[in-house]
Amino acid sequence: MTVDDAKYISNHLSATEQKLFFSMDVADQCHSLRTAYAIERYAIEGKAGVDREFLIRCALLHDVGRKKGDMSISGKVLAVLAMEFFPMLGEWMERRGSQLIYIYKHHAELSGKKLQEIGLFREAKIVAKHHSPPSPNDPKELKLLRLADEKS
Ligand SMILES: [Fe+2]
Ligand SMILES: [Fe+2]
Repeated sequence: MTVDDAKYISNHLSATEQKLFFSMDVADQCHSLRTAYAIERYAIEGKAGVDREFLIRCALLHDVGRKKGDMSISGKVLAVLAMEFFPMLGEWMERRGSQLIYIYKHHAELSGKKLQEIGLFREAKIVAKHHSPPSPNDPKELKLLRLADEKS
C-alpha cells in the first residue's frame, strides 16, 4: 500500500469506517482499494446519476465481513475452487462445518451487518447483496459494485 493509497482511504472513510477497513487482511485491503479505483473509472465514464462518494465507501468496505485471519490465501483459493468448480465438495465442506466455506458464502451478509452496526444502512443494503445472483431490479450502484469487484 502506498502513501497515496493511505491518503485515499483517509479522504473517503471516517475513523470508524477505517477501523473496519483495517480489520481485513492486507490482501483484502488491496482488493478493496482496487475495487474503489475501478468504481472511480466506471463512475467517471458517463454513468450519470450515481452517488460517487457512496459507491466508493461501498467498494472500500464491501468485504469487511472477512476479518484478518479468517481465511488464509490458500484457504481462500480452496474455498473459491470448491464452490466454483466442485460445488458438491463445497457443500460437503459446508455441512462438515467448514468455516472457510461459511465465510466465503456469507461474507457479503456479514459485511452488511458490520456496516449496519456503524450506522451505514444504505451501504449495508448494497454490500450485503454483492454476491447474490443478479436480478433485473438491482439498483445501478449494486451492478457497478459487482462489476468493479469482479475486475479487481
Ligand atoms: Fe466479496
Ligand atoms: Fe470483493
